[in-house]
Amino acid sequence: MIELKHISKWITIGGIRTFILKDIDLSISQGEFISIMGPSGSGKSTLLNVLGMLDEPSEGQYHFLGNPVHQLKEKQRSQIYKQHIGFVFQAYHLIDELTVYENIETPLIYQNLKSSARQSIVSDALDRFQIVGKKDLFPSQLSGGQQQLVGIARALVARPKLLLADEPTGNLNSKQGEEIMTLFQELNRQEGVTIVQVTHSEKNAEYGTRIIDLLDGRIEIKS
Ligand SMILES: Nc1ncnc2c1ncn2[C@@H]1O[C@H](COP(=O)(O)OP(=O)(O)OP(=O)(O)O)[C@@H](O)[C@H]1O
Ligand SMILES: [Mg+2]
Repeated sequence: MIELKHISKWITIGGIRTFILKDIDLSISQGEFISIMGPSGSGKSTLLNVLGMLDEPSEGQYHFLGNPVHQLKEKQRSQIYKQHIGFVFQAYHLIDELTVYENIETPLIYQNLKSSARQSIVSDALDRFQIVGKKDLFPSQLSGGQQQLVGIARALVARPKLLLADEPTGNLNSKQGEEIMTLFQELNRQEGVTIVQVTHSEKNAEYGTRIIDLLDGRIEIKS
């Protein structure tokens, strides 16, 4: 499903190149559930953003479902993203001007669904994440954990083939966190959704089928 070859990302300050990602080779098959771990600043979010086509690497090749992402124009990348990828952001990235309901509905608007079909899908999501009572509120009126749940609901409504989640449970209490991890595991096992999550928690990482350790922008091979 995903093939990264020699992916590097760097910034240049005062003529000096600083690597954020360095020579990443990574293959991900459909149906995997991967946990990316590593210290703060090791490049986890950057790698996830590259996978989600939200950030361009400085060098290297990225193939997604056979498409050469590194050669595509912005518009084509965005089309693939909207069709196949759900993204849970580390800092939620909800749209401030839209209500909870409208935020969750957004990905469905790209899918040419009728308004009645969208309504029923969003209602189910509100139920599933127990945020029905919040549907008319704006993100600023929610707690961090509630915003995180809205972000997860939004990433899942369009039934993506690939779910990318950056610290999806970072602001949830432990019971909510376990529920989300169980939900991810069900989506992965029963519906075949491919998942890549970033987590600092060993326990959450264990829900996945493979762990990738990043250190200073490189994948660490553990013996
Ligand atoms: N646009 C950018 N410009 C300059 N430096 C950047 C940029 N994006 C990321 N970095 C740097 O790259 C490094 C990796 O950042 P990244 O956000 O990927 O880390 P992370 O592993 O997700 O950390 P955390 O666990 O704290 O979320 C950091 O040192 C960060 O400062
Ligand atoms: Mg991060």
